[in-house]
Amino acid sequence: LTYTISHRSTPYTLSLPSTATLSDLKSALASLTSIPPQNQKLLYKPPHLANDSDLAAMLLDRGKIMMIGTPASTVAAVQSPPTRPRPRTQKAAVRPLRQAPPTQADIQYTFRTLQPLPYLPNSTHAHSILSKLASDPAVRAIMLRHKFSVGVLGELDPATHTNHEGRTLGLNTNRGAMIEVRLRTDEDRVSGSVGGRGWRRYRDVRDVLAHELAHNVYREHDAKFWRLCRQLEGEM
Ligand code: NI
Repeated sequence: LTYTISHRSTPYTLSLPSTATLSDLKSALASLTSIPPQNQKLLYKPPHLANDSDLAAMLLDRGKIMMIGTPASTVAAVQSPPTRPRPRTQKAAVRPLRQAPPTQADIQYTFRTLQPLPYLPNSTHAHSILSKLASDPAVRAIMLRHKFSVGVLGELDPATHTNHEGRTLGLNTNRGAMIEVRLRTDEDRVSGSVGGRGWRRYRDVRDVLAHELAHNVYREHDAKFWRLCRQLEGEM
């Protein structure tokens, strides 16, 4: 059986015997990506496969699996940040308001990976919008205040999320394992021009992010969800 696993926008294709287990897949991925199995998080439908369950169950989603995870070395670096010697220059002594080093909460309540769609034009601009969202002071404050952790903040694929019923503006998979937001307008999603045309307004995208963050807490669009959603929009 052949599986396509995408990680940080890179697709990996693996062939495993039909008797292979999830552990086998994780081991194979570890040797490809140097991300140890315990750091791997796989997103697929249906969720909740045990480590010894049959991989064929994953083929329900045509064998497409997305992996998020951090190499062991990166995790170690985050857990014990290296102490850098402060430069002893006069400038350093008088520099006002040096940015505080990130706290444990800053590291935990954040977006771990940004993921633009590499096959659409101008994906560097898409990345810069995602980056602006992730570092937006209002968004940062909400993440910390509400203790939101998001694995992947990604660009929603406009082609696969537009149909006769309308357009999806955002998606939250597995309560924040991945949040995708639509960045491009319909008119110009092919050429992907930088500037006003072709890209949705930043504030609109940010409001969609507020909506999707509310889904980290409530799955359904019920009264509790909308109360939190309005609260987050107000905090933006
Ligand atoms: Ni929703």
